[in-house]
Amino acid sequence: MGNRDRLQDVLGTRLPIIQAPMAGVQGSALAIAVANTGGLGSLPCAMLTIEDMRSELAAIRAATRGPINVNFFCHVQPEPDARRETEWRALLAPYYEEFGIDSASIAGGAARRPFSDEAADVLEEFRPEVVSFHFGLPSDRLMARVKATAAKIVGCATTVEEARWLEQRGVDGIVAQGFEAGGHRGMFLSDDVTMQAGTLALVPQIVSEVKVPVIAAGGIADAAGVKAALALGAVAAQVGTAYLLCPETKTSPVHRTALKSDAARHTALTNLFSGRPARGIVNRVMRELGAMNKSAPAFPLASTALAPLRKKAESLGDGGFSPLWCGQNATGCAEIAAGELTRMLAG
Ligand SMILES: Cc1cc2nc3c(=O)[nH]c(=O)nc-3n(C[C@H](O)[C@H](O)[C@H](O)COP(=O)(O)O)c2cc1C
Repeated sequence: MGNRDRLQDVLGTRLPIIQAPMAGVQGSALAIAVANTGGLGSLPCAMLTIEDMRSELAAIRAATRGPINVNFFCHVQPEPDARRETEWRALLAPYYEEFGIDSASIAGGAARRPFSDEAADVLEEFRPEVVSFHFGLPSDRLMARVKATAAKIVGCATTVEEARWLEQRGVDGIVAQGFEAGGHRGMFLSDDVTMQAGTLALVPQIVSEVKVPVIAAGGIADAAGVKAALALGAVAAQVGTAYLLCPETKTSPVHRTALKSDAARHTALTNLFSGRPARGIVNRVMRELGAMNKSAPAFPLASTALAPLRKKAESLGDGGFSPLWCGQNATGCAEIAAGELTRMLAG
């Protein structure tokens, strides 16, 4: 099978472009715009309630006939660790004082949810053509439920070992996420970031190791980048950062400002905002606490204590406490319609 047929087989799209699912910054509007242009639109569900998931999918099905990718995290929810939480809040105490926040009033509850039976119910209702997972895969039982909907299942690998693991568990396609990528690293077999390779190095190694189609992600921001990914053997490119300024996103004003500034040239992996390494524009809290800090609670609990600081700072137009997710190549970011960007990426 040629690469074009493999693309059709796994993604069902005309163009070799996946709009990366980006939890927290986009919903149905971006996915619809990309799907209506011939790329694969994605709906990220990690931060949606089950009701929101239903209404977003209903909106998508009403507005496009194109195939759609629905994306989930599949982390294991950790037990809260009181000692670490206390240590973490002590580190943040000077900031609470600076912004006049009463630390005793901070409510618990992490906003990022793993894939569940309730989410599988929604998939059975809407039958998206593609379902993708970040941080490994759900249990065999939940995987069987997704497979039974006839969806193509795509997993994300950041190493050759993870790609092998995903293929052995029956995925239909693999996103090879290079080190350049914005947002959370999908790493799940090891938490050693020194094992993470760049897109140019990772994609051909995974392509030669697995039989299923590979999708390249990380640092791809224009048609030349997409072409390069295809030349390395990928069937498609998954692009995130370049879409962040499109009018169909919900990217916050502070995030937009940072993406449009020279600050976007300096990104780093940080665990401060969620507990897991993710790439974002270096800002005040990353500089002052160190981008990777051992006191940050386990994923996704770290976000709770930072939430009020983020809210307060953002209300003052300050992005110093916000996750400004961004890959190492923000040059593709433009305030243009997502459909137009998709066509430009496809060349
Ligand atoms: C703002 C943002 C949010 C993201 N959220 C998700 C997500 O919810 N699920 C997921 O699988 N990947 C997520 N990612 C990672 C993307 O799927 C993809 O790997 C990455 O955007 C590719 O690199 P690029 O940003 O350089 O294009 C996110 C990336 C960004 C920039």
